[in-house]
Parts: sequence; C-alpha cells; structure tokens
Amino acid sequence: MFDKAKALEIFEKLYGKGEVRIFFAPGRVNLIGEHIDYNGGYVFPAALELGNYVLVRAREDNTVNLAADDLPGTLASCRLDELETKRGKEWGAYQFGVLDELLKLGIKLCGMDMLFSSTLPFGAGLSSSASIEVVTAYAALKLAGAELSMTEVALLTQRAENNFVGVNCGIMDQFACANGKAGHGMLLDCATVSCQQIPLNLDGYTIVVGNTNKKRGLADSKYNERRCECERGLEMIRTRCTELKNLCELTEDDLAEYDGLLTDETVKARVTHVVSENARVIESVLLLKNGDIPGFGKLLNASHLSLRDLYEVTGRELDAMTEIARAYPGCVGSRMTGAGFGGCTVSIVENSAVEGFIAHVSAEYEKATGLRGDLYASNASDGPVELC
Ligand code: GLA
Repeated sequence: MFDKAKALEIFEKLYGKGEVRIFFAPGRVNLIGEHIDYNGGYVFPAALELGNYVLVRAREDNTVNLAADDLPGTLASCRLDELETKRGKEWGAYQFGVLDELLKLGIKLCGMDMLFSSTLPFGAGLSSSASIEVVTAYAALKLAGAELSMTEVALLTQRAENNFVGVNCGIMDQFACANGKAGHGMLLDCATVSCQQIPLNLDGYTIVVGNTNKKRGLADSKYNERRCECERGLEMIRTRCTELKNLCELTEDDLAEYDGLLTDETVKARVTHVVSENARVIESVLLLKNGDIPGFGKLLNASHLSLRDLYEVTGRELDAMTEIARAYPGCVGSRMTGAGFGGCTVSIVENSAVEGFIAHVSAEYEKATGLRGDLYASNASDGPVELC
C-alpha cells in the first residue's frame, strides 16, 4: 500500500519543505491477446489498482532530480538540455526518455524534484515500466500546464521505451496504463490504436493475479527473437499476399490457405499462435457481452496452451501455477499475462472460491517449484489521477 505520510517525509528530507503534488498511474493485467500488439492485433488489458506514485515539485532551474522511496538518496539527476546523455537501461532512463519525448513535442517543461513510490512488483509482467513512464508524462504535463490526449501519452511513452531505453515493446502496456477505466477492459486495436471500453460484467467471478516470483530472465532477448520470427512469417506470406501489413489481418482460414508458404516450422508455429490469439480476443469480448464467463475462461486456457506450445514463452513456473489454478474447482480459466518467461498469471475464479483458491494455489505452487507465489484478487481500475 502507498504510505503517503512516509513518502512526504522522505520527499522533504531529500528536497526540503514546500508544496508537493502527487500523481498516480496504474499497472495493467492483460486478460487476453498476448504477443499480438506488435502484430497489429486486438488485445484486452485492464488497469490495476496497483501502480506507481510520484511526488513532485517544480524547480526554478532546469534540473530534474529523481529518487525512489525504497532506495537511499537521489538516484539520478539531469538538466533538461542534456537528457541525451541518459540513454540506456539505467534507473532513470525511463523517466528521462519520457521528458525527452515531451520536449520533442514542443512542451515547455520545468525542472522538477521527483520521488517515485511503487506498489507494483517490478519486472513481473504487470507493466511496472509503462506505469512509471505514464506517471512521469502525466505529472510533467500537469506541472507544465499542458494537455495531451491519453492516446498521445501512450504513444510518446512507447517511443521513449523503444528509442531511449532501447526496449522494442508494442503499444499495449503504455496504452493500458494511460487509458484504464474502472470496471472495464480495453479492447485495443493495435493497428489503429483505437479502443473500446468493454464493461467487465464478471457477475459472480473475480480476477486473480498471481506473481510466480520467477524473474523474467532472457525476456528481452527472447522477446526480440519472437518479434523477428513474426517478421519473417509476414515476409513469407507477403510473397503471395503483397498487400498484407501485419499478421493479424489474417483469419484462421487465410492461414490455412497460406500454410505452404510458411516453410520454417518455428515461424509457422509463431504465426499460428498470433492468428489464433487474435481470434480468441474477439471471441472473448463476444462471450463477455453475453455473460458467458466460463466460455471466456476456456479461451484463457487455450491462450496459455498456445503461448506454451506454439509461441514458447511460458516456462516451468508459469505452467505450474496455471495448471494448479485450472485444476481448482471454481477456477474457470488461467493463463500467463505479459511478456512471459516468468512474471504473472491471471485467473478467473468464482467469488465464493477465491479465498480457498489463493491458499491452495500458493501452497501447491510452492511445493512444485520451491518459490513463493503471491496471489491477490484484482479489480479493473481507472487510469492516471492526481491525488488531493
Ligand atoms: C510486453 C510488451 C507488450 C506486449 C507484451 C506481450 O508486456 O511490453 O508490448 O508485447 O509483452 O503481449
């Protein structure tokens, strides 16, 4: 939980007394639609109650100081005209990259003292980075008295991560952190970056997020490898279908027709995941509209199996936690969420079974893997806000 009094005390110790503004941006859980944002597909994430807070005060000069409430001292410092020197993956690059993008858009920023406080597990597939980026953009815009749409915020923070930090992510995470709506999932068309807010009428069911506490080792390199494999698949199909812009324009029937063009078995498996996952997202939203939660759960299970067998981004811990979850009466579906290779799972569980489910899955997961699992019921929440 965010401890406002403690955070204010740390802020004052670091930066002195005076007016402080506090902003929040959520993390996200992706309900379904994995590894298809960068293939122009549909994804269906929801914003979480957990996220990143930033305490901030404008400075007279153009220096930006960054600190975190769980680490001592000021961690990074840079003048706004020297941001280029901060490129890379060091702590602070995410925030500086966002400020750099805002300046490129002509926004007149001021120097700032900032203190970050997170309630999200770091690197666990719940978009801790995107949440930091979005809260930085949101706070900097408010201090500058400037306005941008939340879609622009999503796009500029994605550019910061792609170009400044050097992580080749898609648009889903930044979009979801910037555009959350309580009680809704976001059906985001990643080809056009347009979104429909879909009411999550999970009558009688709860979303349970489970952290495997398995760090996402190799995640960056394997993520880039998967992106390249998809690009190869696209090139192969384009030899006949020259107009094709991205893989998610294909239906499952199209894929059957072009099957012979996919001459590499690995590439074929990746493309099959992408096309079938996109169809599952669309079907999920229809099922939810009809109140068919068990049907939606089955699609979550199918998504996980496809990510395990065709896309190969799960691993022992994610497989163990979801298998244990699925076998529990009252759990209608369970899958990995986020990039994979460790991180979190998402399950849909009958309300009356949630307590027993959490206790059972935690215990059995620890027996199976030797790792503690952290599971908690989650609600779909709003996007960025300023706290009073
Ligand atoms: C990470 C990326 C997203 C998306 C997911 C996989 O979270 O940041 O853009 O590709 O992996 O669905």
